[in-house]
Amino acid sequence: MSRVYGAVNQTLGPGWYDYEKLHIEWNVPDRYEIVRRVGGGKYSEVFEGVDMSNEDKCIIKVLKPVSKKKIKREVKILRNLTGGPNIISLLDVVQDGPSRSNSLIMEYVDNTEWRELFPTLTEPEMKHYLFQLLKALDFVHSRGIMHRDVKPANVMYDRARGKLRLIDWGLAEFYHPNDEYHIRVGSRYYKGPELLVGFKKYDYSLDLWSVGCMLASMIFRKEHFFRGRDNEDQLLRILKVLGTDSFERYLEKYGLFIQTDNRALLQSYPKVPFSAFGSPTISREALDLLDKLLRYDHWERLTAAEAVGHTYFNNVRLETTSKSTERFSDSGFCST
Ligand SMILES: Nc1ncnc2c1ncn2[C@@H]1O[C@H](COP(=O)(O)OP(=O)(O)O)[C@@H](O)[C@H]1O
Ligand SMILES: [Mg+2]
Repeated sequence: MSRVYGAVNQTLGPGWYDYEKLHIEWNVPDRYEIVRRVGGGKYSEVFEGVDMSNEDKCIIKVLKPVSKKKIKREVKILRNLTGGPNIISLLDVVQDGPSRSNSLIMEYVDNTEWRELFPTLTEPEMKHYLFQLLKALDFVHSRGIMHRDVKPANVMYDRARGKLRLIDWGLAEFYHPNDEYHIRVGSRYYKGPELLVGFKKYDYSLDLWSVGCMLASMIFRKEHFFRGRDNEDQLLRILKVLGTDSFERYLEKYGLFIQTDNRALLQSYPKVPFSAFGSPTISREALDLLDKLLRYDHWERLTAAEAVGHTYFNNVRLETTSKSTERFSDSGFCST
């Protein structure tokens, strides 16, 4: 059972979470024109486009053939969350006649690619970025949803405007206490220990591990903090940093066993303090936040709301309180 927001879906009811019952009315795609390809992956091809009815830029996410159920889940979750703080807006859903391909029309973000962004972020920018990401996560968790694929490529950031949007709801899922979930989610370098040891009753706290990995890669200027060659190696990388004492306590607490022939996974490793990974200029607050996010035991990790309240963000919180009225009036909804 999650430490927070455990009963949300039960309270909101099936109309909120039962995505299989969703009937999607697909519109015709005629008003949208493709401008250029901006990305894509296993599940989609993504284009920058224009809405010819008003000349607005938009994003056209053409879904690759996946199950109807998965499409319904993504659309339901996007509809539930659209309008929330720092959540990408779903504007329309369209279907092409002959090819029957389905596309999601989304709000456009003038994104700076994270590989270019991260190495050049200033400290205030890091704080702003992470704060806005955590705000988004606290909101989605409070609505009973886990993202399950938090990573730099799924966070769009318009650097000039300081505008952040959490995208890619393709793996997101509703949280029901005691349900067992697939562990084949997320992207390797950002996968929480629960996914690597096969603990299926995970919850929102999975997303906070991924945030911890992002914080580490920002402050230590490493493209990926835990960079495993495969899932076993991923776990090994984590063990070599967090150490095996607390790992053993974690396995014992949840009655978990790891079955492996990989001798390296069965050895003991000491915990390496996070201060050993970067320059002494990294603040104590940043290292403390990192330590409270990168915990094997998801129950010990800070929640998104707790992380927002961490002293690392003290000055960001002050700024956003004084600016929030201004921002509210010029952006339609409050991004703070
Ligand atoms: N709203 C957006 N604004 C700008 N670029 C986007 C937007 N949405 C997606 N992209 C680009 O397309 C890529 C893939 O989109 P995403 O929704 O993550 O699909 P997938 O499920 O295939 O990973 C992103 O990593 C990003 O580069
Ligand atoms: Mg993606």
